[in-house]
Amino acid sequence: MDDRLNSLIDFIDISDKVIDIGTDHAYVPIALAKRGNTKLLATDVHENALNIAISNIKYNGLENVILTKLSDGLDNIDTSLYDTLVIAGMGGKTIINILNKDRLKLECINKLVIESNDSLPIVRESITNLGYKLKREKVTHVGNHYYVTMEFLKGKSILSEEVKLLGIFNKSNREYYEYLLNYYNDLLSKVPSNLTDRISEINLNIKYLNEYINNI
Ligand SMILES: C[S@@+](CC[C@H](N)C(=O)[O-])C[C@H]1O[C@@H](n2cnc3c(N)ncnc32)[C@H](O)[C@@H]1O
Repeated sequence: MDDRLNSLIDFIDISDKVIDIGTDHAYVPIALAKRGNTKLLATDVHENALNIAISNIKYNGLENVILTKLSDGLDNIDTSLYDTLVIAGMGGKTIINILNKDRLKLECINKLVIESNDSLPIVRESITNLGYKLKREKVTHVGNHYYVTMEFLKGKSILSEEVKLLGIFNKSNREYYEYLLNYYNDLLSKVPSNLTDRISEINLNIKYLNEYINNI
């Protein structure tokens, strides 16, 4: 288990009843089961991935604790016995599509633990619009990549522009903010001058990043 997966586990309570969507090797539910979670469902849209998950679960002797299901998002899943979704290691568009497809299936889901490969502002905004409040985030640095794990709890909220763009301010994220500032400054020097909307968006990120860094 690398630090990214350990971060996901940290957001789950032992009493949470968890569906891990896009489980792949089932590393997350296996770690949760070993830690004491007893209600776990591992799903994947690809049969090959789910078969690997099933053999890993069996190898660990956890087939009585972790159920498995082949499913595109929540399509084949009865969510009513669960209260928590984990969706990690997927693109933002896929994550949003899964959550938007059948909102009735989210009625019993109180917690979402999300780790998106991209489009973090759109993910934050879309999930807020679904009636969840961004509660906590954790930035994990693995290799040369920063991963952001987000925890949403059911509830209405207003997402400020800076939190939508950069996440919840955290003094321990200085290195991450500096990395983003370099990234956006570099991008600004490369964007064609006719893309005015893109330039405004980059400048807004730079403004908020400077504010975040100055507050550390
Ligand atoms: C890169 S892996 C991430 C695995 C694991 N969640 C993690 O964070 O390490 C993405 C997995 O999501 C699955 N996946 C992609 N789209 C999906 C969908 N619509 N529904 C369920 N699983 C999906 C893929 O088959 C793949 O196994």
